[in-house]
Amino acid sequence: MKLKILQILKNKQGYASGEQISRQLGVTRTAVWKTVNSLRKEGYPIDAVPNRGYRLVGEPDILSTAEIRIHLQRAGLDRFVGTVAFKQKTDSTNQMARFADGQQPNQVGLFVAEQQTAGRGRRGRNWHSDHKEGLWFSLLIRPKQMSAEHFSCMTLFAGLCVAEALNDLGINTGIKWPNDLIAIASGRKLGGILTEMILEDSDVRSLIVGIGINVAAKKFPEDLTNLATSIFLESGNHFTRAEVLITILHRFAERFPAYGDFRWLADYRSNCLTLGREIKVSPAFGTPWTGRAIHLNDDGELLVEDANGVRHVVRSGEVSIRGLPGCKM
Ligand code: BTN
Repeated sequence: MKLKILQILKNKQGYASGEQISRQLGVTRTAVWKTVNSLRKEGYPIDAVPNRGYRLVGEPDILSTAEIRIHLQRAGLDRFVGTVAFKQKTDSTNQMARFADGQQPNQVGLFVAEQQTAGRGRRGRNWHSDHKEGLWFSLLIRPKQMSAEHFSCMTLFAGLCVAEALNDLGINTGIKWPNDLIAIASGRKLGGILTEMILEDSDVRSLIVGIGINVAAKKFPEDLTNLATSIFLESGNHFTRAEVLITILHRFAERFPAYGDFRWLADYRSNCLTLGREIKVSPAFGTPWTGRAIHLNDDGELLVEDANGVRHVVRSGEVSIRGLPGCKM
């Protein structure tokens, strides 16, 4: 009922009378009033005037299952997205997705949280996930019987979709290989992606694509100040997190059917800030070294030429780019 009442209020220009809503939904006026109060508790600014009814004031930046479903419907994405789960507080949305079941093979599951208490970054790092400041969500993808190799590029694919979405919002964004979202103006990180695979024998049972975008943050903890940025800091614009989410899902839904032809790698290459640059490669084990990133092959690996002209294939590890303020070498 919450979803339906919220939908009515969002679609109504002026006031929607309690009686009209109760008749439309076949419920009592008390039930309408109680639901309106519960929406108010979630933060929706709803005006109530005797003899006129209820009116939603503005488009608040609120995340809830109902809010997300309404946006998905409006955007025509409700077929692409199956399960929608939202929590005010969770350890990590990647964990929410991991324990979910029953996703259809041709749909994605969407797991969103207002706040993560143990948000995870790549290479075992923590991911700073403060309340209201960012968009923290995971997509659960259940591919039809596919090999792990086939899906190893999903991490790059997701990086491309998110970078394109941020560009759609007017933020000039590039990708630092494999999938850091970098604001080109400041060289700082707007968001990151943590992809996890759940394997069954050598087949991929599910893929979890965890995406974190700094949306409204005005400042960051001291250790992140020179590294991180937000959509607000880059553009001065207040986007709601639902808007950002839908823009990303749009790009995802548009490109996903053609994931398997890998033609999108050409677009990845043209959005990749790492290619052609002096970089430092810090392997998980071993000594960091420098070189020039000269190519990204069709397996999504980086080809790096060191100072002696020797070419190395880099499959994983941390890469920093000379000249990007957020990526000191
Ligand atoms: C990175 O280190 O750049 C990856 C960060 C990924 C963060 C997102 S936030 C939503 C999802 N849940 C997590 O615990 N991590 C990812």
